[in-house]
Parts: sequence; structure tokens; C-alpha cells
Amino acid sequence: MKDDIRIVNARIWDGFSLKNLGFTVTGGRFSRIAADSHLPEAERTFDAMGMAIFPGFIDSHVHLRDFSTSYKEDFLSGTGAAVAGGFTTVLDMPNTSPPVTTAPVLVERKAKAREKILSNVGFYSSPATIDDVGALSGAGSIAFKVYLANRLEGTLDYSDTMQLMKLMSKIKSNKGLLVIHAEDATFFSKKENAGIDYRPVKAETVAIDKVIEAASRTRCSVHIAHISTEQGLKKVTRAKRDGTDISCESSPHHSFLDQENTSRTSLTYCVPPLRSKSDREAILKGVVNGAVEMIASDHAPHSLQEKQNEMVPGFPGLEVTLPLMLDMVSRGKLTLKRLCELMISYPCARFNLKDRGEIREGYWGDFTIINLKKKNRIRADKFHSKAKYSPFDGRDVVGSVYATFVKGRTAFLENRLVGTPGMGEVLEGNAIPS
Ligand code: NCD
Ligand code: ZN
Repeated sequence: MKDDIRIVNARIWDGFSLKNLGFTVTGGRFSRIAADSHLPEAERTFDAMGMAIFPGFIDSHVHLRDFSTSYKEDFLSGTGAAVAGGFTTVLDMPNTSPPVTTAPVLVERKAKAREKILSNVGFYSSPATIDDVGALSGAGSIAFKVYLANRLEGTLDYSDTMQLMKLMSKIKSNKGLLVIHAEDATFFSKKENAGIDYRPVKAETVAIDKVIEAASRTRCSVHIAHISTEQGLKKVTRAKRDGTDISCESSPHHSFLDQENTSRTSLTYCVPPLRSKSDREAILKGVVNGAVEMIASDHAPHSLQEKQNEMVPGFPGLEVTLPLMLDMVSRGKLTLKRLCELMISYPCARFNLKDRGEIREGYWGDFTIINLKKKNRIRADKFHSKAKYSPFDGRDVVGSVYATFVKGRTAFLENRLVGTPGMGEVLEGNAIPS
């Protein structure tokens, strides 16, 4: 039987550098990696002249919405934004409507996604009770998420230290990972307006202290979502040195935007809020030097009308994250190796994504073709997300996504979505029967 697709004239990322090698993908998996002259025939040949090819990028913090808020985003538009942004795998957050707090809702969500997705998708859940952890794990929850400041409807209050520790112990015994939105609502000021006063730095640092304490006592693996403060990052770094299994991610907005360089409008409102220049610089430094392990978009789409008329937090990020990071590389501020650790290998390892994250024979044939030299202007009106606005709109960047392949099939090519709904894989999680 012939191989499905053969990529020639490529330079492929092998974890350390770009090598002049081609490859074939058969039945959705990389089947041969070799110099072009040694590659077998295939039904289709793709010429990647001048391009760099990476294992598919992974975004571990995405809100695909759908369900009753599909007017904000749905599985097709959200995964369309993902592949347009170079991501082949995204992990979907549970603060949906209804929220993913029990196994039946998770099963329903997966079934709904299966018919629509263009990228692979793994699903978080936020356990209604400690007893739901096992069933959620069995139903394929990729990781667990708790919002310490505002729990999801129908869940226990995990900002209570005892409940948090019980949850962590249970997740630990299921060999799971707990991702935490670390803000302590008791420090929020009452005024319902955007900005640093409403959710001060202390709200994050106190919540991080609580997480570290509970994680070090229960030995649960924990991950801090969208870290935004220098003090918070220092605490995480110290805890790691002390042996706690803790990691953190930064969003592109907390790395590149701050209160001084961004106009404060409802469109730029997000949680945690954009911080001071010095916080932002400390986070970006951590991204570069490894104190921050991952970059994740926190793609949080809302309708434009909602953004203009209400204080709804968040904005789309899937189609700006990789271009912004590639631009860092083009300006010599970040190495390609570091970018690939932040956006491929670390998320893959942390979320235990099997057979992904490398262009390697036998692994899933997910890959992203990048033009490292191409100049581009970020144009929110061209987004594939339903949310067509961005605080990065109009920014010039160097480095652009040329094509995205999921399991050997083209999902995105030259600015167009060309995939078939349902081509992505629903990740089944890492359930360990207990
Ligand atoms: C998120 C959303 O809209 O779902 N918004 C945000 O600003 N980050 C919520 C969240 O991630 O806490
Ligand atoms: Zn989020």
C-alpha cells in the first residue's frame, strides 16, 4: 500500500534544530522520516520548499464554548481558529454553559465535538464533588480545573482549603493534573470595573500560596493557569525548588501587554487583569528563561456586542499566539528551541499527550508548516474565530503559519480552512482505572 502523503524539500524540527529531511504519513501517523531520495512513493506529494516544519503546536488553555454559548464560539469555529493559528491540539476549558462538572456532561461534550472539530481536542472538567473525580477521569477528562475566585455552578467551593486538599488527594490517587485559576476573591474590590484595583496582585499571590501549601502536603501535580505577577512567579519558582510538582503558564497578553502599553477599554478587559510593566517584564523574562514552562492563549471569545456593552473578561488568542512568539524568534529574543519547549514539548509532557509532540515514526502525523521569514500584520477582521477583535490587532510580526496538518490531513493552507469537520481527534485522557 502507498503512503498517504509525502512531504519533500522540507526542513523539519527534530527537537534541537531544523534538518533537511522529509517524511511520509500513513493512516494518520508518521511512517517514514528520511532524506527525500529515500522516501517511499505516496498518493500525494507536498512541496515545502523554503518552509520550516514543526510537530503540531499545542494550546493547553482554550475556551471553545459551544453548548448554549455557541454564538460566542463553537467547536468548528474554535478549532478553525486553532488550526489557522498553527495548533493541532487544544485543551478545552470547562466553564461552559452548562459547565463540565460531571461525567455525563463530559460525555455529551465529547460527542458533540467529535462531529465538528478540525483540530484534536482534549477536555478539562471541574469536578462537582470529590466523588466525581474518578468518573470524570474514566470518561476521559484530560486534566482538572478549578476556579478559586468563582467556582463553576454546581461545584464544591474549592477555595476552602480542606476541600481543595481533599480534591488534590483524590486527583493525586487518579494520577491526574490539577490546573488552577489562582485568584482569591476576598481581595477583589467591590467596584465592578476593569483594571488593577478590582483584582489586585495580592489576590493572585495569596491564592498561589494556598495552592502551594495544599500541593506540597498532598503531593498532587498542579499547574497555575495564566500567571500574571512577578511575586506569584517567584513563589512558584521557589516551591518548585522545594520539590513541589508545580508548573505555570503565561498567556501572550500577560507577556506582551501591560497597563502602560494598552488602552484600558472593555475590549482589553481580561482576568487576571493586565498588570504593571514590571510584572509583565518579569513574566516575559520567565517565558524566555524557563521559569514559565508554557505559553497558552487563554482564547476566551465573546460576542463583540457583549464586549462593548458588558464587562465580560477575555478575548480571542488562538490566531495571535504563535505569530507573536515567532516574531520574538525573528527579533532574536527567543530561540526556536525555547519556543518549541513552551508550545510543544512541555505541554505534551505535562498533559501526558501520547504519541504527539515530535515528528517521529509511529507518532500521530500532526504538523505545522511555518514561513519563518514572512512579514504579516495581525488582522482581527480576518480571524476564523467568531470573535473578530484583539488587543494585538494591527501589530506587525515576522513569521507566519503556512499550513496545518492534523493526522496527515490538511486542515489549514495559505490562509484558508480546508479541513473537514470531524477530522480532529477527541483525546481520551489518561484515565487510570482505580
Ligand atoms: C475566561 C472566559 O471568558 O472564559 N476569561 C478570561 O478573561 N480569562 C475565564 C477565565 O479563564 O477565567
Ligand atoms: Zn481561561
